[in-house]
Formats: sequence, structure tokens, C-alpha cells
Amino acid sequence: MCGIVGYIGHQKASHLLVNGLKRMEYRGYDSAGISFLENGKINILKQKGKVENLDRLVPHDLINTTIGIAHTRWATHGFPNDVNAHPHTDNTGNISVVHNGIIENYTAIRTKLKQDGYSFFTDTDTEVLAVFIGAFYEKVNNLEEAVRMALSEVDGTYGIAVLSSYEPDKIIAARMGSPMVLGIGENEYIIASDAAAIIAHTNKVIYLDDGEMVIVTREGFITKTVLNEETKRQIEAIEFDIQQIEKSGFDHFMLKEIYEQPETVKNAFRGRLLIEKGNVKLGGLNSVIEKLRTAKRIIIIACGTSWHAALVAEYMIEQLAHIPVEVEYASEFRYRNPVIGPEDVVFAISQSGETADTLAAVKEAKQKGATVLGFVNVVGSSIARETEAGTYLHAGPEIGVASTKAFTSQLTVMALVALMLGRMRTLSQLDGKRIALEISELPEKITKVFDQLKQIKEIVDEYAHAKNFLYLGRGFNFPLALEGALKLKEISYIHAEGYPAAEMKHGPIALIDENMPVVFIATQDEIYDKVLSNIEEVKARKGKIIAIANEGDERIKLVANHVIYIPNTLPMLNPILAVVPLQLMAYFMALKLGCNVDQPRNLAKSVTVE
Ligand code: AGP
Ligand code: GLU
Repeated sequence: MCGIVGYIGHQKASHLLVNGLKRMEYRGYDSAGISFLENGKINILKQKGKVENLDRLVPHDLINTTIGIAHTRWATHGFPNDVNAHPHTDNTGNISVVHNGIIENYTAIRTKLKQDGYSFFTDTDTEVLAVFIGAFYEKVNNLEEAVRMALSEVDGTYGIAVLSSYEPDKIIAARMGSPMVLGIGENEYIIASDAAAIIAHTNKVIYLDDGEMVIVTREGFITKTVLNEETKRQIEAIEFDIQQIEKSGFDHFMLKEIYEQPETVKNAFRGRLLIEKGNVKLGGLNSVIEKLRTAKRIIIIACGTSWHAALVAEYMIEQLAHIPVEVEYASEFRYRNPVIGPEDVVFAISQSGETADTLAAVKEAKQKGATVLGFVNVVGSSIARETEAGTYLHAGPEIGVASTKAFTSQLTVMALVALMLGRMRTLSQLDGKRIALEISELPEKITKVFDQLKQIKEIVDEYAHAKNFLYLGRGFNFPLALEGALKLKEISYIHAEGYPAAEMKHGPIALIDENMPVVFIATQDEIYDKVLSNIEEVKARKGKIIAIANEGDERIKLVANHVIYIPNTLPMLNPILAVVPLQLMAYFMALKLGCNVDQPRNLAKSVTVE
């Protein structure tokens, strides 16, 4: 969920640590803290609230240390307050720990430690781990060994960094289910849970694997498993550069990322479209091409916005390739003992590649022998490395907590996959070419949607007081109704629900009155007339109609209170255009209501806990 930064090198650590946290604050941000060595002692400064608060608390000019660890928290155990903020220490105060994840058996460990005379001062599971390490240290008098012994007995997920005055020139980090990256600079090392905190210093990294730890000193580093087997790891390069994680003149990352979509959608199909052949080439799937050719069923697992992308993918693949597709919430799939086997192909869709539920579902699917493929944005992420093949989204870092460009890139990649699967089966070259051409025209069509900004802002001004919204769509646009509702509620905190348009009659229509704005995605396809009927049903109950419609559609004006026009494209590609006004509507609504657009309350960018 949140952020870890550790530093050992020749620079003053305090500014570097706090700035590193700022680059990761989007990942989780209810409290923050740092631990550093000064005069041979562990010093900890931490408090509830934003990293800015911590920055003001830290007396940078008085701190000369060149080693430290730091953390932004997204609370799972214990209120987000000063006491529960990380770092936490053992009872001697000589060992400090920062932790991402959940120690699931912390209660049992805490009970045993209490019986052994140890005390606890916070409500967190993380403090239990710190005290546990301290207890082992008393036995073995070796920090690395103590960390290894403690981690060998914990269940759950962790990304941790440990700093101790017992062995002052050393940082130990380890991961199980929560990302951890080692940045290798010139005589300096940065440990972080996200490469965004490293890129300002170096682009040379090692992505730790689950069950792996790294011991970093001023002389160098060693990677080994928690079971004490040395590992030899390749140094990789971070694929993005620093300005990709800056706002570049936009007020918010979310707005920047909405406006990046013409470019990021192009990056999703760049070098992959074979227009003349009406086909695609996805190098990352070469090793599983025969599995895909013979697949009798595809299961797609994901969460949140990625789950909405999975629903669109279901319609795309079934339409073009006539393969049955099932879409599963990863959190449900992982515990349901799914009926799958070696003949099944499973797609995992994830922006971060770190979502705990999706990662666990991937492991469950592998356990049952399925072919598991990853469609993720973050290169080197856990899901990317856990799956046997896949396709990167190439959307660049997505910092805004509300996913936007990653969603349209997911849809674009899924359109490519559907086209490839279709061309392996009954889809003609001519039809394939038509689809490939339409995909290639998406970037300039997205750019045209931005011309509707004035209408979108007028709608926001008129309905900013609304307490509820309904989003309705059919076919390819039904998942879009879900996504539009999610965008609005997660950043403006207005309650919003998405439904299949026809489903409204089976209950939600009771909500309709003159105060209920209803957003219809009413693009022209074979079920357009049915959507018009649903609009009339809402109108008959004085509902206010906001319609997303195709350019040239005059009929919609006769029934809708507001119309936002998008360019024409294939029904299967409409969601890539129609989602843009929904993203902008949510963004400007949140702005008008004074919400924190990039870091909405209670949320985090990457949900690496259950
Ligand atoms: C989307 O706006 C949300 N931030 C959230 O639903 C997100 O899509 C979900 O947590 C899945 O994340 P992932 O794509 O990184 O796996
Ligand atoms: N479980 C730990 C806590 O609640 C860490 C949560 C996180 O990942 O930020 O403090």
C-alpha cells in the first residue's frame, strides 16, 4: 500500500528520505516517519498526516547522518495516529523497522512475546515484528540472523527495511508479497517499495523477489533468501525517467494522466499493429501462442478499474474470437477454490502489478496448472514476474490514485489481444484490417474529446450539489457505467452506481426523481434504440439525463438534458473514447467540491494488502 525508503551513502539522508516519501505518497498516506542514526543512537520522528507534516517536523539542518529509513503508512492495524505511525522499534529502541503489508499471525506472536516479558506500545502488527526481531537479536547477537529468524516465523505479507544501532552501517530489507527495489548508485544505495523514489538518484535497480532479502552496507550489498541461500540477481534499468513522475504544469497528476491518453494509447499499440495483415504482434505472448490458439476458455482476474477493463475485454474477445470468457474479482477467485485446470488460460490485469488479491489469484491459478498471463503497467512488478508471459501496457507511471490512462491502455491492449485471438480463428483479414485501422485512429479521436471540456464543466457546475448519480450503459458500455461511477465516487465522495441500462427497471428506477442525475453512455451501436427507451423511462420520472453520444447524433438531443459528444468508432472501441468525459467529469467535480484529487481519503494507489 504505502511507501518505504532507505538510504545509505555519502549524502545527508534526511532530505533524501523525505523527498523519496513524497514521490511515493500517492501509494498510501495517512502518516509518515523516519528513523536515522545520530551519535550512535536510533532517532525516530513520525506523525499522523501528510509527508509535508513530517518534513516540517524534521530538523534537517541539525541532522548530518548519511543513513536512514522512512515510511508512509496506509493503516491496516491501528488508527492512523502518531503512535501507530512507522518506524516501530524493539523494546530496547536499538532496532527500528518500517513495514508494508500485514503480519497475519501477529496476535499469536504478540501473545508469546508478552509471556516472555516484552511490552507493546502501539496497536500495529508492525511493532510485533520489530519486537520479534529484537527478541531474536538478544539470542543470536546478529541483526541479519535475527531478521531472518523472525521472518521465517511470520505469516502474511511484508516489505520491510530494518536499521539498528547495534550494526550501524547496515540496512536490511526483505519482501514477501509487497514490492521492494534496491537502487544502485555511485557509492550509495536506495531501498524503496517503488522505483519512483529511486529514479532521481539512479536507474540501476534490482527488484527483490518474494522470500528474498538484501543486506546493504557502505561497501556493497548481498541478496539472499530468508532461508540464508545467496541469490545472484541481474541489475535492471528503470524504464521511465524523472519527468514522467512530475506534474509537468498540470494542477494534478490525474489531469496530466487524462491528457496523456492520446500518447499512452498510442504507446499501447505502437509496434504491435500489423494493419495490412489485419493482425497484431505481441512479442510477450510468443511463448504461449499455441496455448492461446487452442484455448477453450479464458478467465480474467482483476480488481477495481482493472476489473472493469476485464469486463470490456470479455465482450471484445467473445465478439472477435468466440471464446467463452469469465471475469472474476481476484479477491473472490483466490478463495473460491476455482474450477480451473491446465486447459485454461488466465489473464491477470493490473496497473500496479502489485495488487495483493490479484497476485494471490495468479498464484492460485498457477497452482491449478492454468496458463497465467499478465497484462500490467509497471515493469518488473510482482505480477509481471509471477506470470509466465504477458504484455506491458507502456502507459508510464500512473501517480493519480484514480486510474485513468492505465484503463484506456488496458482496453487498447485487450483489443489487440482480441484481434489476435480472432485472427487465429474465424476473423477475416479484411475485418481484422478494419479493426486495426480503427485502433490506430484512437489517439487523435481522444484528442477531439477534449474539445468538450466546456460542456463537461457546465454539467459539473449544475450537478455539484447532487448526492447520488446513476451511470447506465449496455453492451460494451455497461462496464463503462461501472467505471464512470467508480471514478466519481472515489475522488468526489458522491455516491454513484453503475448498472446495465435495462437493469434499471428492476429496482434502481425507484431512485429516479428530479434530483437524480443519470449518466447514459448512449453511443450508436446495435442496441442504441434500447438505450433511448431507457432514457425515456428516466425522463418520464423527471430524472436529469446526461448522455455521452457519438458526433452527428441528433436524436439524443431531443431526450437528454446534456450531451457530450465523442467521435465515432467501432462499438468495441467506444469505451476508450467514452471513458474520457467520465474521467474529466469526476476530476472537475472533485475539484469543485475541494477534494484531494490525487490522493483521495482512505484510498491508496496500490492495494498490496488484503
Ligand atoms: C481505480 O481508480 C482504483 N484506484 C482501484 O480500483 C484500482 O483499479 C484497483 O485497486 C486495482 O489496481 P491495479 O490495477 O493496480 O491492480
Ligand atoms: N500493517 C501495517 C500497519 O498497519 C503496515 C500497513 C501499510 O502497509 O502501510 O501499520
